Amino acid sequence: MTPEIFVKARSTLFIPSMTENTFPNIIQNTTGFQSLTETINWLQAESFDLKKNLSTSGVLLFRGFPVSSAEDFDSFSSAFNYGEFTYQESLSNAVRINKTPKVFTANEAPADVEIFLHHEMAQTPSYPEKIFFCCLSPASKGGETPVCRSDKVFNELSEKHPKWLSKFESLGLKYTTVMPPSDELNSGQGRGWRSTLSVYDEKEAEEKLKALGYSWKWLKDKSLLATSPALPAISVLPDGSKSFFNQIIAAYRGWKTLENSSVPPVTFGNGEFIEENILNSIVAIASRFTTLLEWKTGDVALVDNRRVMHGRHSYSGVNKREVLVSLARDS
Ligand SMILES: [Fe+2]
Repeated sequence: MTPEIFVKARSTLFIPSMTENTFPNIIQNTTGFQSLTETINWLQAESFDLKKNLSTSGVLLFRGFPVSSAEDFDSFSSAFNYGEFTYQESLSNAVRINKTPKVFTANEAPADVEIFLHHEMAQTPSYPEKIFFCCLSPASKGGETPVCRSDKVFNELSEKHPKWLSKFESLGLKYTTVMPPSDELNSGQGRGWRSTLSVYDEKEAEEKLKALGYSWKWLKDKSLLATSPALPAISVLPDGSKSFFNQIIAAYRGWKTLENSSVPPVTFGNGEFIEENILNSIVAIASRFTTLLEWKTGDVALVDNRRVMHGRHSYSGVNKREVLVSLARDS
């Protein structure tokens, strides 16, 4: 990094401060960086302030920067120097395709499938703290990424439904999913059990599930019905505030349930069912704190996965929507 670039960047590219209504915080390339090298130099120089800003805003949206490929995006996200979180090591049930070792497609679910609000991998014991998205090509119509402030959802729930909230907090949640024998591209949760668990056969799968505290059942078609151990429904953030950190909305609205199965996709941590009226109330409250990332080519969004939920609207039209993802740990 040359001093000239540092001075130029500091003096002309404004990092907007956070206000109560700034969500997401949009950072425009007003300096007019033409090259990725200049951009990365600036990101590295400003990473402390950018991370500080993210810790209160929840989402930074970088617009107008020279990012036009998976490799550019890999370099852009690497400039923040977060720890690595590879998709292979996760227990996510979405099908994705790697573009570089740390960049992959957001979700291979069909265009007409809506992916409902969730914290990434909150339904598993291991999750990334940060998520980068990059839009290489927006859809012709739809395809926005809704983002929702879960700390505000928590606050509203504590006012309106304190008893329910304390039950979520004390019992946690259990999630039940069905994993097919191999990856299915026609679903938002189509990742097969072999790739989800990084195993070769049934015996290895059972060993892995046992070690993770899951219960399971093999189905006639060789699919695997797996129920997580009780996982937290609430997360305490570094500033002491709390967020409604879970996958209740996505599981309730979007996950497939087994025909004739009495097990819903999400229950309290003791297996008790969550009443429909409280589920609907959570959905309604979350919608009030949700805004849309309306993608433009070259946009990069950095999302604090512990404070903010995300999803994906369905889309249509001739343009192929191409949104990539990179996951990260805080360190
Ligand atoms: Fe996601």
